[in-house]
Amino acid sequence: MIPSIDTIDLAPWCHRMRVAHPIVYNSEYPRVHGGKGAWHLFRYHDIRYVLDHHEIFSSEFISRKNHLGNSFLATDPPRHGKLRSLVAKAFTPTAIAYLESWITSQCESLLQPLLSAGKMDFIDAFARQLPKRTILQFLGLPPEITAQLLPQEIDILGKNHSEDPGSLQLMEERISQPFYQYISQYQQGITSGHNIIAGLIDANIDGEKLTLAELLGFCIVLLSGGIETTEAFLGNAMYTLCKLPALQEYLIQHPASIPAAMEEVLRFRSPVLNFHRIARHNTIINGIEIKAGELVGLYSISANRDPEVFNNPDEFNIWRNNSISLSFGHGIHSCIGSMLARMEARIAFSVILKHMSGIGIQEDAVLSLSGSPITYDLKTLPITFRNRHIQ
Ligand code: HEM
Repeated sequence: MIPSIDTIDLAPWCHRMRVAHPIVYNSEYPRVHGGKGAWHLFRYHDIRYVLDHHEIFSSEFISRKNHLGNSFLATDPPRHGKLRSLVAKAFTPTAIAYLESWITSQCESLLQPLLSAGKMDFIDAFARQLPKRTILQFLGLPPEITAQLLPQEIDILGKNHSEDPGSLQLMEERISQPFYQYISQYQQGITSGHNIIAGLIDANIDGEKLTLAELLGFCIVLLSGGIETTEAFLGNAMYTLCKLPALQEYLIQHPASIPAAMEEVLRFRSPVLNFHRIARHNTIINGIEIKAGELVGLYSISANRDPEVFNNPDEFNIWRNNSISLSFGHGIHSCIGSMLARMEARIAFSVILKHMSGIGIQEDAVLSLSGSPITYDLKTLPITFRNRHIQ
């Protein structure tokens, strides 16, 4: 269904689908968590309808054999709200403000060794590094646990694993081992600590502790949700700057506009292609019958370019009102980490544009998408640039 992954720009395909096949079933669609077949929705209002009706469209479509299937991302009300509220306070702008200077120093340490070379693969050197470091710092686990997680490739959303759902489980098992070790040690009193995971181990809902499956579900959703999406965001923002040299110059002169530019990147090159729901019972969306148990894929990337909602949707315009974009979802499951992702991107590009100008894609670069069915991101982004401190 998704066109050749050699196509970087999915907007023309999204436009065709919105016009010709706004709600279409693809029996061959490989579900990341096993099985085949899904409806695909492309229009903004149809997608909003699904997100507004969680009593019809459930988030419990991921097997509970997967850690992600035990997370609040994949849990319906009323338990969803109870689980989410255990961590929500940690994500408010005030709560994450303490990370500001730490993220700035990480950006500096990633960039400084590369500035004199005047070139780098931005994905490998920066976009893949910063979000992982940030989430691990945010989780605040003991150094020996963080050290085990730092070198791991985090790919729960499907860049590299095959269509075999077992491969996803294996990857989750590998990534969850250090968390499992920490949870066991904490429960036995071998280690202590004040961090998000320790808070969850101590927490209870209606007098009951969380199960181990729920604790590991939290670990995996925070790690994966926070890393792979933000990697895509940073890469897409850099790609946009390479394509728009005038925007680069403008932002160097007007750094206060960086947050507005990042907000438009989220709409224009949404880091997430699509996310899913499953119909609880037979229902109808815009005249199309969806049967109970069928999977529904919501192409937020297409909704964000819907001309019924956004004027001149293919124009990158940092002054437009894009507050209703669906990049972070919408409704009860809307992204809990959106402020953290925005803060990372704002700091990252403030530091980047302090040091670099004239950023462009290397002439011999052959770009392709990562191939993830969930994220919209580039495999590599080789860039050249001028070091602003060298005349
Ligand atoms: C640009 C970066 C990001 C994008 C584009 C993004 C996108 C999304 C989207 C579309 C959803 C809704 C999924 C659904 O409705 O099924 C979501 C939910 C979620 N995101 Fe993010 N996300 C980003 C960054 C983060 C970060 C930094 C974290 C931090 C850990 C995070 C953690 C989560 C969690 C835990 C949920 C589930 C919320 C719930 O079910 O109540 N995300 N995200």
